[in-house]
Amino acid sequence: MASLSAQIPLCLALMMAACLMIGINGSIDGAQREFDYFALSLQWPGTICHKTRHCCSSNACCRGSNSPTEFTIHGLWPDYNDGTWPSCCYRSQFDVKEISTLLDALEKYWPSLYCGKSSTCFSGKGLFWAHEWEKHGTCSSPVIRDEYSYFITTLNVYFKYNVTKILNEAGYAPSNSERYPLGGIVSAIENSFRATPEVICSKEAVEEIRLCFFKDFKPRNCLASKTSCPKYVSLPAYVSMGREASESEIAWISDDEAL
Ligand SMILES: *[C@@H]1O[C@H](CO)[C@@H](O)[C@H](O)[C@H]1NC(C)=O
Repeated sequence: MASLSAQIPLCLALMMAACLMIGINGSIDGAQREFDYFALSLQWPGTICHKTRHCCSSNACCRGSNSPTEFTIHGLWPDYNDGTWPSCCYRSQFDVKEISTLLDALEKYWPSLYCGKSSTCFSGKGLFWAHEWEKHGTCSSPVIRDEYSYFITTLNVYFKYNVTKILNEAGYAPSNSERYPLGGIVSAIENSFRATPEVICSKEAVEEIRLCFFKDFKPRNCLASKTSCPKYVSLPAYVSMGREASESEIAWISDDEAL
């Protein structure tokens, strides 16, 4: 009988824990299971900067001649094979001090292309990097277990596969007049990366290219999904957005709108 009295509180505790999990995610799958694979999501500034009407100091589109002209990092995302993904897996407030040695590289290769602050999981709004770490990075366990590892690992994977170079060498140069066959772009990446990427478009313009990886970072195919791209796509060249000019012209657009 002595053991029964000890079991009842334990039962209650377990039930409460289960309830909490259901509460957080609205599903019984509250403790998010381990992810299946990674997607390295890359952004094409030529397309996104074309849509970003709002210039501000945090928007890399507004750096004039120093604005990015190659694919930049959106994030490294843990994904499930069924097309869904875990997010905000545990509380970890982004701390920029932890990645202070990486800031030069992050500014260059992982800049925000927007002005508004990004949503974070638990702390409201913050830097683009805070959003990526809190939402996706915290779900990369057991491969990646802390903020610094998340950013250094992502940079290293990014440096290993230069998608801009792959496309240029296959004849797909940034252009505001050419249209390229989507199949040609996909093949060029397959030939070099040895796996099938996912291409995301905004209208007919390539907006993102995603490379997928097993947990040991060997390339694997992304999920065969319905593509958002037409048969012929464009790879728009970056058009400089002078910060001074656009700031005064369109200063009325709120930061939130830019997201
Ligand atoms: C990608 O390759 C181009 C040359 O085509 C080079 O200018 C650029 O620095 C490379 N990017 C990275 C991140 O290594």
